[in-house]
Amino acid sequence: MKKAFQTLDEKNAEALKGGGEKRVEAQHSKGKLTARERINLLFDEGSFEEIGRLVTHRSANFGLDKQRFLGDGVVTGYGTISGRLVYVFSQDFTVLGGSLAEAHAEKICKIMDLAMKNGAPVIGLNDSGGARIQEGVVSLGGYADIFYRNTKASGVIPQLSAIMGPCAGGAVYSPALTDFILMVENTSYMFVTGPNVVKTVTHEEVSAEDLGGASAHSTKSGVTHFSCANEIECINRLKGILSYIPQNCEEEPPSLPYEAADDESRPGLNEIVPENPNQPYDIREVIEGTIDSDSFLEVHKDYADNIVVGFARLAGKSIGVVANQPAVLAGVLDIHASQKAARFVRFCDSFNIPLLVFVDVPGFLPGTDQEWNAIITNGAKLLYAFSEATVPRISVITRKAYGGAYDVMNSKHIGSDINLAWPSAEIAVMGAKGAAEIIFKKEIREANDPDAKWKEKEQEYADLFANPYNAAARGYVDEVIKPEATRQKLIRAFKMLENKVDTLPRKKHGNIPL
Ligand code: HXC
Repeated sequence: MKKAFQTLDEKNAEALKGGGEKRVEAQHSKGKLTARERINLLFDEGSFEEIGRLVTHRSANFGLDKQRFLGDGVVTGYGTISGRLVYVFSQDFTVLGGSLAEAHAEKICKIMDLAMKNGAPVIGLNDSGGARIQEGVVSLGGYADIFYRNTKASGVIPQLSAIMGPCAGGAVYSPALTDFILMVENTSYMFVTGPNVVKTVTHEEVSAEDLGGASAHSTKSGVTHFSCANEIECINRLKGILSYIPQNCEEEPPSLPYEAADDESRPGLNEIVPENPNQPYDIREVIEGTIDSDSFLEVHKDYADNIVVGFARLAGKSIGVVANQPAVLAGVLDIHASQKAARFVRFCDSFNIPLLVFVDVPGFLPGTDQEWNAIITNGAKLLYAFSEATVPRISVITRKAYGGAYDVMNSKHIGSDINLAWPSAEIAVMGAKGAAEIIFKKEIREANDPDAKWKEKEQEYADLFANPYNAAARGYVDEVIKPEATRQKLIRAFKMLENKVDTLPRKKHGNIPL
């Protein structure tokens, strides 16, 4: 028996070495941790259980039979994070560059299947040279097996992807199918085709970092939701996201104990919206002033910042916040803002996270760029996402709610449960100046002093519509409240909606304007 035990010990020790000391050193010298070090930081101490440590590939192509590493370049298993079950795969770049082929893919699929059956999140720590070139088509098959599972799992269990090294070619599509992507600055990149191919095809000279680094994807493409300064920050961010979301689509999100305060009024909120309706202010002040202190986890912070989205807690409960940002482009809705918000709304609705929407929107961004790049289709995504969301939904109109954007931003008409407005709200088809110009065109043109006439008509329109009371008279707004009362009203309204049940018409699935 002793010999048998010794064999086991030797195999385990060999597996733990990964690609060997030299390659581990090379990994560290790039400022990267190894697959196992990352797992140790991610999971509660001592909770990780590995699955498939002794798996090897079966290929002899191009000398691979002499390069058989236990585990085949990916560490897979399960453990707990803050006491909750989570599955993980962590690619080991020190073994054949973390490249993926048959056995490596089978290990990932096994973890994903277990996660689906047991209703728990999957985290992928990606660090891979892509398809294992020596194994050929089985690598492609392996990727597709994962993509298929990513898609099936979407909306059933949360899927998070951290990119901690290369992620290129078709390999990018597994993270792209998951709910959130996090990237580490300077050590990770994602692209469908790398700088060399780009140079050959388009003659552009671009570095890997500029083409597909964390900065490019967090500001330009929006592919990544979080850009992290280093791997530790990335791992902590993964834990932070999990703290707001449930284990699966059947569960409620976790909530923190909360002792109701005697007075939930927030007088500071009265001071944020400026007297002049054309003056910007930072909607984050409104969000922070309303939610539980320090509970805002902003998503897609550096992308399409004319809209702000993120997780927060209100009286200890998880909520998703979507808010126009008047400090950027006056809070206008454009293609990127619509896509960003629509995707976040979809996530929250998939996982039973109630939505709080702050509205201050002057309309959609005009221009050929927007029209030719399909603001119509993209704006419809947000409209569709809100309309289909069955979670509790509350809107607070802080200032402008104009035109089609009023309808889109979680209006009562598309299923919002409670809509509140501040006295500064202006709910109208369009701004008073433009409206006066159109409907009083003839009178203005024929007046002795056209400018004075225009001003007079503008004021007339503003008096009638630049307020919340017309909408309130029709019940489009349930209550006009002073800003200081917002938190208290929201706590009560979300509590009232706690047991909301809403169902969609029976269908195979809708045809979201993708
Ligand atoms: C097999 C690979 C590999 C791969 C890297 N390695 N990529 N082995 N298949 N795809 C091995 C190297 O041979 C080397 O082995 C070790 O990993 C480390 O690689 P280095 O090149 O030394 O590391 P580095 O300089 O950091 O460069 C990393 C890299 C580069 C940029 C990722 O290795 C690279 O360009 N690899 C090829 C990338 C690629 O073209 N992949 C296929 C993409 S197409 P030793 O033994 O020396 O340690 C694709 C299609 C997927 O993925 C389609 C899905 C639908």
